[in-house]
Amino acid sequence: MFITLEGIEGSGKTTQMKNVARWLEAKGLEFVLTREPGGTRIGKAIRRLLLDPASIDLDPLAELLLYNADRVQHIRTVIKPHLADGKSVVCDRFFDATLVYQGMARKLGTGLVNKIHQLVCDGFQPDLTLLLDLDPLKGLERTWQQVDSGKRSQAETRFENEKLEFHRRVRAGYLQLAEMYPRRIKVIDASGSLVQVARKLEKILDEFLEGFNKNGHQSS
Ligand code: TMP
Repeated sequence: MFITLEGIEGSGKTTQMKNVARWLEAKGLEFVLTREPGGTRIGKAIRRLLLDPASIDLDPLAELLLYNADRVQHIRTVIKPHLADGKSVVCDRFFDATLVYQGMARKLGTGLVNKIHQLVCDGFQPDLTLLLDLDPLKGLERTWQQVDSGKRSQAETRFENEKLEFHRRVRAGYLQLAEMYPRRIKVIDASGSLVQVARKLEKILDEFLEGFNKNGHQSS
């Protein structure tokens, strides 16, 4: 199964990835953890370019195409081969991020973003998406603390430098997607304690696995 994690900056995806990994381990399932952008060697170079604050003059359409280049490489060389091997793949961000960041927050339009995804990635979608929902003010505060303490590199802060309004559009976009695809996208309130978030996550994963085992896959 293919599971993705989504959310605004500072919503706690990295911590919750570890909890998903623990859950998979406890179920005795083989898995790989990966991320976008940067889940491949080529993708790491693309990631540097995309997240570097010095890329301030990157054109929005060029940005969209770079995220797609990263994804094509990732799907073809990492995600699909592992799924074909019978492993689960857990990915920190995927196509929903492009819909929301480039399609909605950058205002390129979800029609264009969907069209390109269909064309270059065959419209490939996760079986389950965990959306960590948080007020952007809180999320950004967390991320800048991580930058100050050296947990997050200053060289990856191009999106953190965006205005609060941009991050509000990202959050609203994610919640809109969750309303459109309630079976695939599960919203988790990320403002609670780590234990509360972890419990909610586990419950969602348990319910998902039950359905997955019954139907083979979960449709959106
Ligand atoms: P992160 O890996 O630390 O979450 O950073 C990735 C950044 O890239 C984050 O600000 C969201 C952004 N992003 C997009 O704008 N579009 C995308 O398609 C993806 C995958 C990420």
